[in-house]
This record gives sequence, structure tokens and C-alpha cells, in this order.
Amino acid sequence: MTEEPGRTTRRFLTPPVRDVHQLLRGRMESLGMTVTLDAAGNLRGRWQATSAHGKRLLVGSHIDTVPDAGAFDGVLGVTLALELVEIAQQHKLPLAIELIAFSDEEGARYIPFLGSRAVAGRFNSGSLLALRDREGVTMENAIRAFGLHPNRIPEAVIDEDVLGFFEVHIEQGPILETEGLSVAAVTSIAGQSRFAVKFIGHANHAGTTPMHLRRDALAGAAEWMIAVETYARQTEGLVATVGRLGLEPNAGNVIPGVANLGFEVRHVNDSARKHAAEALLVSAQIIADKRNLVLQFERRMDQPAVPMDEQLTAFLAETIESLGLPPRLMPSGAGHDAMVMAGRVPAAMLFLRSPGGISHHPDESVREEDVETALQVGVRFIERLAAQVR
Ligand code: GLV
Ligand code: MN
Ligand code: MN
Repeated sequence: MTEEPGRTTRRFLTPPVRDVHQLLRGRMESLGMTVTLDAAGNLRGRWQATSAHGKRLLVGSHIDTVPDAGAFDGVLGVTLALELVEIAQQHKLPLAIELIAFSDEEGARYIPFLGSRAVAGRFNSGSLLALRDREGVTMENAIRAFGLHPNRIPEAVIDEDVLGFFEVHIEQGPILETEGLSVAAVTSIAGQSRFAVKFIGHANHAGTTPMHLRRDALAGAAEWMIAVETYARQTEGLVATVGRLGLEPNAGNVIPGVANLGFEVRHVNDSARKHAAEALLVSAQIIADKRNLVLQFERRMDQPAVPMDEQLTAFLAETIESLGLPPRLMPSGAGHDAMVMAGRVPAAMLFLRSPGGISHHPDESVREEDVETALQVGVRFIERLAAQVR
């Protein structure tokens, strides 16, 4: 289910998302869940035991992907959530559960967390709906083209009747593998700033324009990219990336006139992140000035670091320990739906080992025994929660 044959790319509300919804809807309905699609494109299924009392637990993750993605980032959390509902039914747990397959966490089409923003009541329609994708389609039109109504996005927000949000996700890094562990409870999620950065020079003939008369946008961008890498290597805990590059006119015999870059900075400490972002944009300006280029940048996102709920996370760590496993706690460098949900409800996350630490790549994988362990932890977690609300 992909936009591109031969590789997995599934951005916010693109055609293959319909196929994913159809498949998930079928699985949810076969479990007796009541399924709805909210106006932000989140597919949601509710089930509640006849013996249920108390607030409902939200479980899930995202179904969008980065371009040329692996099979597990997000999707595993959704499929494990389905398993949890099925097991909750088999075990006759007195629970109410809502499963959410979030429409956008990666931001590969617009910006991250569109789905969870809507559910958490943080979807700012005024500024978001006008954003355009690479093809120039506004978010408003993308939502309408999927058959949804942007003016109904406020209805996606959850009410007060929610116990918390639980997300299972691959670690996407090498730590658990290095330590020989299957799973960990997440303590906090690093903040991230994203920018669209543009170096503007002048396109000209590559054969006739002497080197000293050039205004090469890509050469300026390249100098800055090395500065970004050097700065991040020298700054403890900082990661900074230029992950997207678009050139105009992008021809072998034309000096690049414009370089469009996607730039992001992350750190668990918000002031360290902001300081680094500012310093690196100043360095872009200095490089542009020196090369007679024009620099433009636009802040696309500023997401502070977010702690997971202390009590729910302690409860999750105890659950891991109750299964005879080390109760490892760790922060997350990757962004997750849980980080937006945590602004609204208590949130907890379970990580499982990523072989080779590889993610955002088709080689992303999981070990079957870790998936089984994650499921056991999840089942024990909801059993213990059910016993508590009883
Ligand atoms: C989400 O995968 C992120 O970019 O952190
Ligand atoms: Mn993810
Ligand atoms: Mn991801």
C-alpha cells in the first residue's frame, strides 16, 4: 500500500491510505469495534466490554511513512493495538479501548503530527490548512480530496473520558540492541525544530561563467551543510540534519540558481535546541553574505521536548519487571504521536529493539521474539490497568 511501486511511501491522505483504512476497518469490525474516520484522517475504533467501567484507554500509532520507508515504524504500534483489543476481549477485561491509527506523524507531506494534533485539540486550522505539499496542493484540498471536511476537524478532539494513551513503537536506534534488551519504557521525547531553508543565487551557463563570477546556490548550501554537521558533532546531545535538497533548475550544465533545504535540529533540552537552531541559521546567513547569495528561511515546526506521564511510565516499568525483564527506561530521539497526546492525557510508550538500529529505511526490521515480548508487556499492562480501575 504505497504511492510508489517498489518502495513504501505513504504520506498523509494519499491514495494508498484508503487501502490501509479498508484493511484496518475490516479487522476492527471483525473485533466488534465501532469504527469512525475523523476529519483529520485518523481511523478510530472503539470497543468496550459490557462489564467496562471508568475511562477508556487510547492505544495506537501512525500509518503514514517517510519516503522509501521500512515496514514497522508506526504500523507495528497499530497492529499490536489490534492484538491488544483482541486479547482484552478473550481475557474479558472490563475495559473500554479506543484504537487510533493516526494519519500523519512523519510530516513527509506537510508537517508532523497532524493526526495527533487533531485528537489532542492542537490542530490550528488557521495556519495549517493553507500549507502546500511539493505539488502545490494545500492541506485543505488534500483533506477534501479524501472526502473529509476540514471544518469538522475540531470534532476529532477527545473528551475528558480518557484514562491515557499507550503507544508501542520500535526504538529506531541502537541502544536496546547494544544492551541486549528487548523492550524499554520511554521517559521523554526530544524536542525538534524544523525549517525550510532557501539559498538563492543566480543560474547561469556552466561552461562560460568564470568561477569568480558565479553565485552558486548549491555550493553555498554545501558549505553550510558541513558547518551544520561540524557544529552538531561538537555539541553534546545535539543532532542536526539537512535531509531534503531540491535544486533549481537542477541540470548538469547549469549553475544551481536556487537550493531548497529541509533542516531540522533536535535535543532533549529545549534551550540547547533553540540555541543551536539560532546559531546555525546565523551561520547560514554569514555563508550566504560571503557568497553573494540571498538566504530565506521559514520555521515549519517547533516542538518542545515532552516527558511521558510519570505515574503511567512507572506502572509500565513495573509491568516490564513483573515479567522478569530489566525495567530499562530511556528517552526517545525520534518524535512520536505520544508526544502530542501527552499534552492532553497521561501518555506512556513502550520501545522494542531495532535490529542494527536501522529505521526510516527499507531494511528496518524487528525480531519476532521482541514483538512477542512487547505484546506480553502490553497485555500485562492493560490487565493491571483493568484491575486498577475495577
Ligand atoms: C519521526 O519519525 C521523527 O522524525 O522523529
Ligand atoms: Mn514513528
Ligand atoms: Mn518515523
